[in-house]
Order: sequence, then structure tokens, then C-alpha cells
Amino acid sequence: MTKLLVVDRDGEEHEVECKPGLKIMETLRELDYGVAAICGGMCSCATCHVYVDRNWADQLPAPMSDERELLSELAHFQDNSRLSCQVEMTESLAGLRVTIAPDE
Ligand code: FES
Repeated sequence: MTKLLVVDRDGEEHEVECKPGLKIMETLRELDYGVAAICGGMCSCATCHVYVDRNWADQLPAPMSDERELLSELAHFQDNSRLSCQVEMTESLAGLRVTIAPDE
């Protein structure tokens, strides 16, 4: 298990365990303060929207075009926005910090 830091919509930070090899959405949707992930990871709902801590943003693989397209349509889009269903947890991302984005 790998450590993931999650800032909820009230600004409170939580340390949670995240299994490498899984998309971080899989962990976030199990949390009371996490994401809805309505489409189950099909990159079509954007209810798994998070902001990646800027210190980590460069260490993630760049988003594919379908993720970029969906993100760009969001009212709360920022340059560090990601869909958590498209980000795979790895050992090298231990300590990754993400903030749950506001509901659209
Ligand atoms: S879970 Fe729907 S886009 Fe990520």
C-alpha cells in the first residue's frame, strides 16, 4: 500500500492508503469525503475531478486527449486538474497530494 494525501472540500487533509496499480479514483470513491465517480472510470462524467498538488503535477503522465477535452469543459478547471480515474497509483507516487475539486 502507498500513502496518498487527500484534501477534502472543507480543506481538511487526510492520509489514506492507496494500492499501487489501481487508479486513484478507486480509493477516492470509497471515502465519505471523496469523489462520486459516476461513470466508473470511463472518462465520461468528470465527477472524479481532483487538483494535483503542483509539486507533483510534473511527475504524472500527461493526460490523454479525451481527459484533456473533458477537463477543459469544467467550470472549476485549473491547470493542475486531473480526472482521478485516469491517474494510476505507483510506488513512486507515494505521498501524492490531491484536492477534491468542487461539485460542478
Ligand atoms: S469516474 Fe467518470 S470521468 Fe472519472
